[in-house]
Amino acid sequence: MRNAAITGWGMAVPDRVLTNADLERMVETSDEWITSRTGIKERRIVGAEDSTTSLSVTAARQALDTAGLTPEDIDLIVVATCTPDQFLVSQACLVQAELGGTAGAFDLGAACSGFVYALAVGSQFVQTGLHERVMVIGVDTLTRFVDYTDRSTCILFGDGAGAVVLEATDEPRGLLSTVLGADGAGYKHLYIPGWGAFVPESAELFPEYRPYLHMNGQEVFRFAVRVMGDAAVEAVEKANLTFDDVDMMIPHQANMRIIDAAARRLALPREKVWVNLDRYGNTSAASIPIALFEAAEAGNLAEGDNVVLVAFGGGLAWAAGMVRWGTAGVCRDAECRKRAAIVPGPECVHVGQATDSESQVTKTLAGG
Ligand code: ACO
Repeated sequence: MRNAAITGWGMAVPDRVLTNADLERMVETSDEWITSRTGIKERRIVGAEDSTTSLSVTAARQALDTAGLTPEDIDLIVVATCTPDQFLVSQACLVQAELGGTAGAFDLGAACSGFVYALAVGSQFVQTGLHERVMVIGVDTLTRFVDYTDRSTCILFGDGAGAVVLEATDEPRGLLSTVLGADGAGYKHLYIPGWGAFVPESAELFPEYRPYLHMNGQEVFRFAVRVMGDAAVEAVEKANLTFDDVDMMIPHQANMRIIDAAARRLALPREKVWVNLDRYGNTSAASIPIALFEAAEAGNLAEGDNVVLVAFGGGLAWAAGMVRWGTAGVCRDAECRKRAAIVPGPECVHVGQATDSESQVTKTLAGG
């Protein structure tokens, strides 16, 4: 069966740091309260020179470098975001304009669950054979819509982008299972009123009105604890694996208490759960690809590892998936790539970089 292996990864965050000590000077809060209730210590905040586009492009270029590809090699760009720089055109087209190439480009909106939704969509384009190489980006600059006088929301969010490249393989790599869900009726627990084409009357009455993120923290918390655990368990079961098979969980980085609850459902020890929210806060659609990048770069993901991704957020939506890490079956040879032999023909002897199936695949392809 044709699958979509993750062959490249990249990330970007703004330089500007907002610490809990900074927030103590802005609203009535304390480092102790923020740390004990959320686990967050600091976040990165966009400055005047940053944009959703600039962060996406930096992450995308890094992902292309890791994969050894150029923008021209990419067939499709899917950007998950709820904070595009413009509504017309899509964020994906703005990214492609900077990167170059002629890949198809569109956005997908599922707030903090957006990256896992987009990974599912991008993987399907590869699995069906419609495309060979897809770029999936999760990016958000939600701090542009945070009210920095509201202590219940301003402590949570940071900005960033993460990107992955997907390439076709006949080995079981990439997304092995997908769980997508939403409870649209709960949308008012987390949304940005007045940020869209439906213009409220207040826009005319109050031209200075600026849309800010509104959140019912306790409702979102309850929802998150329930769906994160349920979705993670479902992702494992749908992949026909057991909890013992899980090598790593990469959860949406919103709140340490929510992450701990999800990890308990899979009986995972802390060292198998990637956590970076202390440094970045909640970066919405970027949080999972940033964590994935860090885990990969730290050498914590090995060929064949089973990695559970699980997210929740505005919608209210949730998403989970079991990813089998590695590039087995993806040809890494430049000449083969030029011949578009991504799922290599019998002449290809370059398949691999895998430890578990390299010799077998190479032998098979070489006719041995
Ligand atoms: N500092 C000090 N006190 C605070 C702060 C703060 N920053 N914020 C709220 N409080 C106070 C409240 O006013 C309240 O005081 P009161 O008891 O006198 O009324 C008290 O702390 C308790 O407030 P709760 O809302 O009950 O605090 P809780 O333990 O629920 O923690 C939090 C709040 C951290 C927001 C939590 O509810 C949460 O994490 N919810 C999930 C939010 C989330 O993850 N959202 C992102 C979703 S992803 C996306 O799509 C964008």
